[in-house]
Amino acid sequence: MTLVTGATGTVGRQVVAELLRLGRPVRALTRDPAKADLPGGVEVVRGDLTDPEGLTAALDGVSGLHLITFGGAYFAPLETGPRIVELAREAGVRRVTVLNGGGPTPLEDAVRASDLPWTVVMPVEFMANALEWADGIRTRDEVCEPFTGRLSAMVHEADIGAVAAVALTEDGHAGQEYLVTGPELLTVRDKADAIAAARGRAVRLVELSEAEAVARWRAEGRPQDVIDFLLEVYGDTPPEGRTVLDTVQKVTGRPARTFADWARAHAGAFRA
Ligand SMILES: NC(=O)c1ccc[n+]([C@@H]2O[C@H](COP(=O)([O-])OP(=O)(O)OC[C@H]3O[C@@H](n4cnc5c(N)ncnc54)[C@H](OP(=O)(O)O)[C@@H]3O)[C@@H](O)[C@H]2O)c1
Repeated sequence: MTLVTGATGTVGRQVVAELLRLGRPVRALTRDPAKADLPGGVEVVRGDLTDPEGLTAALDGVSGLHLITFGGAYFAPLETGPRIVELAREAGVRRVTVLNGGGPTPLEDAVRASDLPWTVVMPVEFMANALEWADGIRTRDEVCEPFTGRLSAMVHEADIGAVAAVALTEDGHAGQEYLVTGPELLTVRDKADAIAAARGRAVRLVELSEAEAVARWRAEGRPQDVIDFLLEVYGDTPPEGRTVLDTVQKVTGRPARTFADWARAHAGAFRA
């Protein structure tokens, strides 16, 4: 049995889907089973990672464990990480994957320091982030973004899930850090064009100044540290965010999915 935390999230749903595709039994953790909307065949269990003592039943009989590193609004790092790792050891977990949260966290540090066979999955920017544009594209045929010339090796969330699922089910991945990228470098214009092609209608690109972007993010209620993070990664994307790697091909044996693939699959979200 594999327990997937964050199972209702962008990546977790893909980890679940890939494990099901591989014919593996899956248990999914959520704080609200009534809203989880997970596929049939998944055992859905209630649990909150900020309350590790309540996870005993969810961990019972589990041999594989996929972990997120956060447990609240705006991805606040889980301070309970070390206790979760202890409980996983006591439960007899034999393989752990961690979805890296963009830096060190108490949970990932505890997993790395443990004697559990772990694999860290470090994705670059998710293709799914483009869903943030859905409203503007549907209602105004436009994308408003700062730094539109920036390059991103953005990755399809299904490929993140596929890499995690392999590490959870096959030997040979313990102690590995997998930086997972898509197959090409794209600008914001490239992404807008791919969405336009997929939905069959043009998309206008409006370049926001840095100040305009900050004002929008503030109006959306994003905290200052999140805004600072966005300015840093969008304004000066680090080399790992704009370098294409063959991790997906190497780990899963399949080529990484393109943004055009992603846009075709999500075209409906961008049509009025
Ligand atoms: N977006 C990007 O471009 C990007 C790039 C690289 C890395 N990342 C990292 O990816 C992670 C986000 O993953 P995601 O987008 O898949 O997440 P997401 O879609 O925002 O989903 C959040 C998930 O976390 C679960 N969750 C939150 N707090 C919880 C708690 N206290 N107890 C149990 N479950 C809890 C939610 O479950 P319920 O609500 O069902 O309980 C849900 O399944 C972050 O660490 C982020 O730093 C993101």
